[in-house]
Formats: sequence, C-alpha cells, structure tokens
Amino acid sequence: MKKNIFILGIESSCDDTSVAITCNKKVLSNIVSSQKIHQKYGGVVPELASRCHQKNIVPIASLALKIAKIEKQQLNAIAFTRGPGLLGSLLVGTSFAKSLSLSLKLPLIEINHMRAHVIANFIENNECSAPSFPFLCLTVSGGHTQIILVKSVEDMSLIGQTLDDSAGEAFDKSAKMLGLGYPGGPIIEKKSIGGNPNKFIFTQPKVKDLNFSFSGLKTQIFNFLKLEKEKNPNFIDKNMNHICASIQKTIINILITKLQLAIEKNQIKNIAIAGGVASNKYFREEIKKMEKKLNINSTFPKIEYSTDNAAMIALAGYYKYQKKNFTMLSVSPDCRYKI
Ligand code: KG4
Ligand code: ZN
Repeated sequence: MKKNIFILGIESSCDDTSVAITCNKKVLSNIVSSQKIHQKYGGVVPELASRCHQKNIVPIASLALKIAKIEKQQLNAIAFTRGPGLLGSLLVGTSFAKSLSLSLKLPLIEINHMRAHVIANFIENNECSAPSFPFLCLTVSGGHTQIILVKSVEDMSLIGQTLDDSAGEAFDKSAKMLGLGYPGGPIIEKKSIGGNPNKFIFTQPKVKDLNFSFSGLKTQIFNFLKLEKEKNPNFIDKNMNHICASIQKTIINILITKLQLAIEKNQIKNIAIAGGVASNKYFREEIKKMEKKLNINSTFPKIEYSTDNAAMIALAGYYKYQKKNFTMLSVSPDCRYKI
C-alpha cells in the first residue's frame, strides 16, 4: 500500500499568510489570513506585510495542524515559497520554514510560487479533474500574467507574459480610481452585477506574440474617468456597475484573446487557468464558452486554491519530495525567482 506523505506548506510571498497540510495530493487544511491593513492604502505596503506575516505565522501554523488533526511529528517535509515576491514577506516564511525543518529534523523544500499556482490544478479536492499533459496554463495574479506550456509538473516553460502591469494590477488600479478599495478584482466583479459590459468601450492593446500589456488600459481608464467627471461630478456613482462590467469585460477579453492565440499556435487542446484573477466568475464563463467553441478541455482550481494559498505550495512540495529534491538550510528568498 502507498505510504501517506504529510507536507506542511508555507506561503508568505505577498499579503496572505497561509499554512496548509496535505496528505499526498489531498488538502487536509489550508488556513489563509488575508491582511486587511492594506485596504486603506489601495495596494500592498511591503513593510506592513512582513510585520503582519511575523505576527500571524505561528498561530496560523498551529491552527493548520489542529484542523488537519496532524501532530508535528507525523510530518514528512516542510515546503515554503522561496519566490517570486516581496523580500520582507518571503523572509518571514523562509525563516519559519527553516526553523521548523531544523527543529523537527525534516527535509526542507523550496517552491516557486508561480509553478505552485499551476500545480494548484492537481489538488485532489478540486471540482475539476486534473488537466492532462501537455497543457497551457494562463496564470493571472496580482504580480504576474503568464502563459505557461506545461509538459509535466517539472517541465514548465514561459511562452508569453505581460510586458508591464499584470491583469490583477489592472483590476486593482481601476478599483482604486473608482474609490473601491483593495484588492480590486473581487470588488469590481461584485459591482459589475447588473451592469452593461458594452456600455463603455476601451481599446485592446496591440502586443506582439503571446505577450500582454495592461498599462495603456490603465491610462485609458484614468483619462476616461477624468473627462466624464469633468462633465458630470456624479458620473462614477451613477454608472458604477456599467463601468465595472465594461472594465471586467475588457481585461478578460484581452486574456481570452491571447490564450486562444496560444492554443492555435501550439496546437494544444488542454488548458488551465490559475492565480487570483482565475477566481473571477465571468472569466470562468468565458473560458467555458471558448472550451465549447474550440472543442478543447479546460480546468480551473477551486477559488480557495486560485488565490494565494499554502495548499498549492504543499502539493508542489509533495511532487519534489517524491524526487527527493530537497533544499539546503543556507537557502535565502529569491524575489525574482524565474519559473
Ligand atoms: O494570486 P493572487 O491571490 O496573489 C498574487 O500572487 O498576486 O492574486 C491577487 C490578484 C489581485 O490583483 C486581485 O485583485 C485579483 O487577484 N483577484 C481577482 C479576483 N479575486 C482576486 N480579480 C478579478 N476577479 C476576482 N474575483
Ligand atoms: Zn500568487
């Protein structure tokens, strides 16, 4: 019979402190504490993020073990996010992982956060079954927008990415301009309900190959709102749902158009989406429409495994554990860790 492998995963790359316990590919617990302190600033304040991680990490790890009903002594390895991310935030998770590994005499496993987003599609607790290889994964988060060609859990190559802002940032910055708070994506999604997505038209950027650009859209939205507010100071309040629906549609359209191009170029029939923006329902609906139109197979992780979480880190750790791909205690975070 296959031995059960218990991994404790730690995620602290940005503003979510998370610890999870997995047993093989199944999640036993996944505790995520999203730092509320950044809301009033309309974006993550790195100095505050690392302080919050420091405060939260020990109680969150204790809770993750308690909910999983696992004793520390039962664990097989400690997996942690080495990067990419904010240095101060990564340092907290890395140091905590090292101290756990040292005190419990367990192997330490470093994980690339962006690879882990892709691997979230293989969590057994998902509603969708895991994608078949090879597949294309569109990972859309607060810091990244990437198309990755995935031939196996180890063999991932970047075939397209944003040249400036990420799609998540486009949501976040638009929400800030609309006075809606942070993180902007879920708020814009909520405010879009009942809005007409075709009421305001924003032009789509023309970017070569499989790359993206969102900075022009941000400027376009800024200028549009400025002009309309000059004509009518109540413009935003009067049109909030239409503005949000139109912005959401534009961002998702940009993503879908490029993914379709990637499918055609690579002749690959399996696709997956990952990252915080992948929790957007309109995005998921559009992917489903594309699935029918192009006769392809699509998968996406459950929402709790799309946004930042430690379950994906623990599962990525499980794959590395099987290959005995362990990390030295001298490891340090890598803010620009490449996929
Ligand atoms: O993957 P993630 O949780 O953290 C990073 O690694 O960055 O992604 C966070 C991003 C934020 O920009 C947030 O606004 C966006 O994901 N996001 C969404 C939704 N939920 C989170 N964007 C659109 N619709 C959502 N429902
Ligand atoms: Zn992320």
